[in-house]
Amino acid sequence: MKFFVDTAEIDAIRELNDLGMVDGVTTNPSLIKKSGRDILEVTREICSIVSGPVSAEVTAVDADTMIAEGRKLAEIAENIAVKVPLTWDGLKACKVLSDEGKMVNVTLCFSANQALLAAKAGATFISPFIGRLDDLNLDGLELIADIREIYDNYGFETNILAASIRTANHMSECAKIGADVATAPPAVIKAMANHVLTDKGLDQFLKDIKDAGIKIV
Ligand code: E4P
Repeated sequence: MKFFVDTAEIDAIRELNDLGMVDGVTTNPSLIKKSGRDILEVTREICSIVSGPVSAEVTAVDADTMIAEGRKLAEIAENIAVKVPLTWDGLKACKVLSDEGKMVNVTLCFSANQALLAAKAGATFISPFIGRLDDLNLDGLELIADIREIYDNYGFETNILAASIRTANHMSECAKIGADVATAPPAVIKAMANHVLTDKGLDQFLKDIKDAGIKIV
């Protein structure tokens, strides 16, 4: 499973990228707002750091303007994936931009039917939002499994990009289901390293190192 990092914070992207943990980046208008930077400028900087797909989201809701914005975003770098919302106009924009050879990430997906439409429209990525479904007491992981089954039934090449990931457990469950990609905030990716028994074991080892005066360099 590929890891995308869901942020527009440059320092966090650099740190994870240096560790080989970043196969791509996703941003959205809320993350751009949080960065406090101009969308074109910050997206250009992200593309200069990361070689994998970098999703940048359109701001319009009508297909023609989405297409114009998508073309402008795609000029930033070759690894831009234009992000469009899963609306009827978003699907129209997806079809046009995909036919032009641009990567398209169809976002705000909350049902298997929506994912089916995005695949038919030629999406490179479909982004089902796990956490926002869980927030409503629905099952976000079940949606990932349903889309996996449907795409495999018919050999759709659209990549399942599990999004709105809130916990390290979401990451391992997505990997078990077979999501192609999971995009998560930096804190969630880092939390995957944590285990209480690792901390406990290390405490004991450190105590024994001190008691025995063990030294290597
Ligand atoms: C994905 O592309 C979205 O930017 C993101 O995963 C949304 O996550 P949220 O529901 O935590 O805002």
